[in-house]
Amino acid sequence: MPYSQANDSALEKKVTINTLHALRGQEKFVMVSLYDAPMAAMAQQCGIEAVLIGDSLGMTVLGYDSVIPVTMEQMIYHIEAVARGNQKSLIIGDLPFMTYASPEQALVNATRVMQAGAHMVKIEGGQWLVDTVKMLTDRGIPVCAHLGLTPQSVHKFGGFRVQGRDADKAEQMIADAQALADAGAALLVLECVPAALGKAITEAVTIPTVGIGAGADTDAQVLVINDILGLTPQPPKFSKNFLLETGEIAGALKKYRDDVKNGAFPEPTHSFN
Ligand code: KIV
Repeated sequence: MPYSQANDSALEKKVTINTLHALRGQEKFVMVSLYDAPMAAMAQQCGIEAVLIGDSLGMTVLGYDSVIPVTMEQMIYHIEAVARGNQKSLIIGDLPFMTYASPEQALVNATRVMQAGAHMVKIEGGQWLVDTVKMLTDRGIPVCAHLGLTPQSVHKFGGFRVQGRDADKAEQMIADAQALADAGAALLVLECVPAALGKAITEAVTIPTVGIGAGADTDAQVLVINDILGLTPQPPKFSKNFLLETGEIAGALKKYRDDVKNGAFPEPTHSFN
């Protein structure tokens, strides 16, 4: 029997931020970064609680070598497509590079993302974003913060590198996470950080953490759809091609979901020290 027919995990109820907060400490939840209506519909069918329209679309769909060129118009186009395809998952839209450099600019652009169909916006950065997180959440726009390897800062980092390996940088990231959570952030993505730091941050905050290359101890996992389906020529260490094992797209999404839920993914080989 094909894996996709082996269990029926379609989302029955609309997932909200309350759903995800209630799962914290009880059950891992699953997020996929994807960009179009058919994949969004399949994610709903496969029980993926949260979908992210990441600015990774600049690299995965549009052929740029970084996320820097991605525009608001491109984000809105893809957010609208995903929102048309999925009525049950929580939908998170990225604010692209330099569209939230001030709280006021963030408010204008986050409004557009929410009106395109997102239920939450994601922004990259540490304590400099505290006023922005307050500005948005006070006005009813939930925020997912993003720390670690934040791809919009790739040129500051000198490449796509693991972050937080030095003790002082790790301390700084924990302080950033706490400041963002205190400011009202609803979720926190941690990308490419040592597994021990992913665990330490998860224990230091009261909001759910969503890891990608952050070890097995975060509250949730996120992967990019292209990596799940083996479409990335040089896949990152933290990713896994689930299509290889299952041979079909719905099966790959369900296997990813099941493996996160039962702790089979990520394995130590997907994590950093
Ligand atoms: O842009 C994106 O897809 C992301 C995820 C990798 C977290 O930010």
